[in-house]
Amino acid sequence: MIKARGLQRRFTSRGRTVDAVKGVDIDVAEGELVGFLGPNGAGKTTTLRMLTTLLTPTAGEAQVAGCDLRADPVGVRGRIGYVAQGGGTGPECKVSEEIELQGRLYGLSKADAIARGKELTEQLDLSGLDQRLTKTLSGGQRRRLDIALGLIHSPKLVFFDEPTTGLDPQSRANLWEHIRTLRSEQGVTMFLTTHYLEEADALCDRILVIDGGEIVAEGTPDALKARVSGDGVVLGVDDDVTDRAAAIVGRVDGAHDLTTLPGEVRFRVPRGDTALPALLRAFDAEGLTMQSVQVQRPTLDDVFLTLTGRSLRDSESTDGATGPDGDTRSDDTTDSGHGNDDGHGGHNDDEKDDDEKDEVPTHVA
Ligand SMILES: Nc1ncnc2c1ncn2[C@@H]1O[C@H](COP(=O)(O)OP(=O)(O)O)[C@@H](O)[C@H]1O
Ligand SMILES: [Mg+2]
Repeated sequence: MIKARGLQRRFTSRGRTVDAVKGVDIDVAEGELVGFLGPNGAGKTTTLRMLTTLLTPTAGEAQVAGCDLRADPVGVRGRIGYVAQGGGTGPECKVSEEIELQGRLYGLSKADAIARGKELTEQLDLSGLDQRLTKTLSGGQRRRLDIALGLIHSPKLVFFDEPTTGLDPQSRANLWEHIRTLRSEQGVTMFLTTHYLEEADALCDRILVIDGGEIVAEGTPDALKARVSGDGVVLGVDDDVTDRAAAIVGRVDGAHDLTTLPGEVRFRVPRGDTALPALLRAFDAEGLTMQSVQVQRPTLDDVFLTLTGRSLRDSESTDGATGPDGDTRSDDTTDSGHGNDDGHGGHNDDEKDDDEKDEVPTHVA
């Protein structure tokens, strides 16, 4: 569904050059739900905007939904759905109008747009909200409407930029459920960006980790975690046999980072779950009793930390400070009703200006 090679994007504005995306390769197969995980500023949105034809790559090639990105951008556009980071609904529009307009923009007849809109609003728990102005929707509802709009023309491939940023944890989990259902019921291939570890972990079949414009790792959540230094295991034993227990652990294949305290043996091993049965047998054979066992799987944050030396949670907390939490201001109509939910407000406009600026010379030349 997506095959990108060496995609690059350089921005030049006010004499400053930013290599936002430094040559990424991306492969997404039909039916996959792939996450693009990285901290703010990693280059996720820039990559997505290239893949969705909104931004011309500085270098690189891509096939998206069966069309060549450079040779047939119109073909790409007709076959994909794109749910932007800040959403795209007009605050003074009614839900029904947005849906119909979006359908008509994609060439559906009025009747088809309404029928498809009904199907999607039912699926996304938006029934009964047709006559509401979009600015009166809760954060979660508005995000689901954004998704309905992105799917109106039944695309086979959908891009989501930060689908749940700014939502409270409950609305986030609810949206994950909807995304999973859409995938299973409509067979849509999905590529989404996120800076939430939990989101990538819970939702995605496969994750590409991006940092500083480069893909630093890729794999299933489990495979990525297995690449870290393995599972952490903590064994509880009687104080007086700690050393004997540690000696047994020392013979376990792949065990490392072995440390002991009286009554406790800690170590790491590639797979804690498969190492334990053999370890229990070895304890039995030597007449030792294991009093307790804990196996701690590494988290995606451990993965990110190992790969980059930084914790992804740091950027997450900064974000949390600037983002309103969607559903808590449910039905209020606030001025900022439809502001960008992640502190990136106005960013898109900047991007457009800059694009035009640095694309002009290419046309002239
Ligand atoms: N139009 C632009 N002009 C200049 N720099 C930009 C522009 N758009 C994005 N950038 C820079 O490119 C980098 C990647 O941005 P972005 O793709 O938005 O990251 P992410 O979506 O991962 O948070 C950042 O350093 C950002 O400031
Ligand atoms: Mg972004």
